[in-house]
Amino acid sequence: MKNVLRAVPLALAALFALPAFAADEAPKITEETPYVPSPRIVVDTMLRMADVRAGDFLIDLGSGDGRIIITAAKEYDAQGFGVDYDPRLVRLATENAQKAGVADRARFIDQNVFKTDLGQASVVTIYLLPEYNAVLKPTLLALKPGTRIVSHDYGIADWEPDAASKVQVPEKPVGVEKSSWIYYWMVPAQVQGHWRSRIPAAKSATALEFKLTQHYQKVEGTAKIGASTVAIERPLLKGDLLSFDLSDGKQSLHFEGRISGGQLSGQLLSGGKKLPWRAVRVDAPKD
Ligand SMILES: C[S@@+](CC[C@H](N)C(=O)[O-])C[C@H]1O[C@@H](n2cnc3c(N)ncnc32)[C@H](O)[C@@H]1O
Repeated sequence: MKNVLRAVPLALAALFALPAFAADEAPKITEETPYVPSPRIVVDTMLRMADVRAGDFLIDLGSGDGRIIITAAKEYDAQGFGVDYDPRLVRLATENAQKAGVADRARFIDQNVFKTDLGQASVVTIYLLPEYNAVLKPTLLALKPGTRIVSHDYGIADWEPDAASKVQVPEKPVGVEKSSWIYYWMVPAQVQGHWRSRIPAAKSATALEFKLTQHYQKVEGTAKIGASTVAIERPLLKGDLLSFDLSDGKQSLHFEGRISGGQLSGQLLSGGKKLPWRAVRVDAPKD
């Protein structure tokens, strides 16, 4: 059964107000996501948290009346498309984009969210039930590193968000609590594995090897500098940018690099000096 344009009945509304991160263990769909529009303050907060700007390409999964993509086009000079499997909503969203004068940058397609190619997206927006998010998780995680994702009210299974914000929404059409949560993630690059590098020095370079383990955007590991093994300190993975510190007791080293095709290229900061730095992954990434 497809959704209706009217507000959802209360019983369904109560179901829609499940707490974030609930029902995320079994990734299968047992209940359809009804049409519930995101209130204006939520749309604004989603776009702000995703840091939407001109040049961004947004995809809204389950786009309803099109308000997220239309606002992004009108107020942030971005572009994108929304998909919805209710053709009446697709027509309404298309008319709304025409009325707002952004039909060239805000398009709407009658399509299932699970069949949608997200490859063009720099930002993905979601207001779907938690079990939808759980099914979408592998697809979202496989997006280009650095792609930003924002979700209204629900998490993405066990993938912890990078940021979360609660806004008061007195006009919220569903749920008992008149507030909404907005969650934000940045898709991390795959960095888990064994890396080999060198620490450049005036006389002779020191061999450096490090092993990273990764749980979504959280990274930890150890490094071997010459003969000593040390912990990787303050690892930070933001999209395809990885930084961390190492200290071998004598010197403190700060590494930062961009990951691309099994290589990390960037710089090493030590003792006020900046040196070019590179590392190569010597094993296949582990999932
Ligand atoms: C809660 S509404 C969100 C609407 C809009 N994104 C917003 O925030 O205002 C969810 C939308 O997803 C659509 N939807 C649900 N399941 C879908 C699916 N499998 N494929 C495409 N659209 C779907 C519904 O028709 C509905 O319009």
